[in-house]
Formats: sequence, structure tokens, C-alpha cells
Amino acid sequence: MNITIVGAGNMGAGFVKQLTAVGHKVTVTARDLAKAQAVAGAHTGASVAAPAEALGDAQVVILATGYADAVPALQGLGSLEGRIVVDITNPLTADYMGLTLGFDTSAAEEIAKALPGALVVKAFNTVLAQVLAEGPAFADGQIVPVFYAGDDERAKQTVRALVESIGFTPVDAGGLKNARYLEPVAGLNIYFAYGAGQGTQIAPTWIRRA
Ligand SMILES: NC(=O)c1ccc[n+]([C@@H]2O[C@H](COP(=O)([O-])OP(=O)(O)OC[C@H]3O[C@@H](n4cnc5c(N)ncnc54)[C@H](OP(=O)(O)O)[C@@H]3O)[C@@H](O)[C@H]2O)c1
Repeated sequence: MNITIVGAGNMGAGFVKQLTAVGHKVTVTARDLAKAQAVAGAHTGASVAAPAEALGDAQVVILATGYADAVPALQGLGSLEGRIVVDITNPLTADYMGLTLGFDTSAAEEIAKALPGALVVKAFNTVLAQVLAEGPAFADGQIVPVFYAGDDERAKQTVRALVESIGFTPVDAGGLKNARYLEPVAGLNIYFAYGAGQGTQIAPTWIRRA
């Protein structure tokens, strides 16, 4: 797949590593192209482009900025009509221990509202950057799940394939409205990792009897 990553921070770097490792072609863009270059540099299959040139023929755009920067960052790419946008953001308070919105909306829904032509799929928001960087395999054959939620079935299938391609287990979490549940799950995960001192090699999952 051709994939554009917006944001060259912790998550952006993890996506570049994992996606290029399995042969995806990745374009990284950021406010500071030197940061994008630092993230893309070492990986075959990764290149850097200014925001206005970063979209090309990308099938998927991964939004890897903070939530507050999300809409302007996406708007800087040009028209997203018909493009799949993977929203990984969590609308965190400054101390990372709370959410700035929820109950009757979510970051994903607000982004979708601001970009009406884009096919927004929530995914990866419950995967810590350190887990993304290390990869999906945990002890005892456990594989980290990636919950994904969206309203466009074709877009969801593409995101599912992307998740599978890098070895994570995709879990269909329903429509985009269910981002209202996924974002608080990430909040709890952050609490466990940092607040409760469990560290960052953890991931939320679901168990099922039989
Ligand atoms: N870290 C995690 O474990 C984790 C896990 C799941 C989800 N998330 C979510 O993933 C997102 C990214 O997290 P992160 O930890 O990677 O954050 P980060 O390290 O702060 O990276 C965010 C990046 O976005 C860039 N950016 C800001 N505005 C931009 C714009 N207009 N155009 C292009 N790039 C822009 C920033 O650039 P500057 O350096 O120039 O500001 C920065 O490089 C957040 O929404 C977070 O909630 C994070």
C-alpha cells in the first residue's frame, strides 16, 4: 500500500518502522521536515514530502499528530475527498490523565465532521508507541489487538488489511461512534502504563470463554 503519515513523533516513527518492514511505501510529512527526515531516513521505502505534496496516490493517510493539531494538519494536505484517514489520536488533557471530550462525541467524530469527504477510521489509539515500535508479539503467543471503528465498510476493510499486514490482530469495533468507547479505553491504558506504573509494554485486549 502507499501510505502517508502525518506527524513524525513517537507514533509516526513506529508506523514508519513497521510499515516499511513489510514492504509498504510510506511518505512522512511534518511541520518540521527535518524531523520527518530523521524518522524516514533509515528505512527503505520511506520518503519525506512537504504537506501539500504528501498525499500523492496514498490509499491511506495515518494521522499521527496530537488531537489539537489534527484538523489543521489534515487540511494542510489538500482535498481528502474519498481518502481513508486513520485517526489514532486520543484527546488527552495536558497531564495525559483525562480526556477533553467524550460521551456525546469523540476525537474521531469531530475530525470526520471537520473533513466531510474523508473516510475516517479510528484505529491504533489503544496501542502505545513503545508497543508499536517493538511489534505485535507478546509472550505466550499473545498478539496485540488493534480495535478499528468506522462507518465506511470499504475503508474498514483496507484498515483491517493494513493492521494484519504488520502482524497485529484487527478487531472490528463497529461504527465511528464507538470511538467514544475506544478513546476512554486508551485513557485507562495510559493510566495503567504511567499512573499505575505497569510500564509501556502493555495493551488492552478482550477475552472470550471458548
Ligand atoms: N504515544 C503513544 O503511546 C500513543 C498511543 C496511541 C495513540 N497516540 C496518539 O497518537 C498521536 C501522536 O502521538 P505521539 O506520541 O506520536 O506524539 P508526538 O511524539 O508529540 O508527535 C506528534 C507529531 O505531530 C507533529 N505535528 C503537529 N502538528 C502537525 C502538523 N500540522 N502537520 C504535521 N505534523 C504535525 C508534531 O510536530 P512538532 O514536533 O513540530 O510539534 C510531532 O512530530 C496523538 O494524538 C496521541 O494521542 C499516542
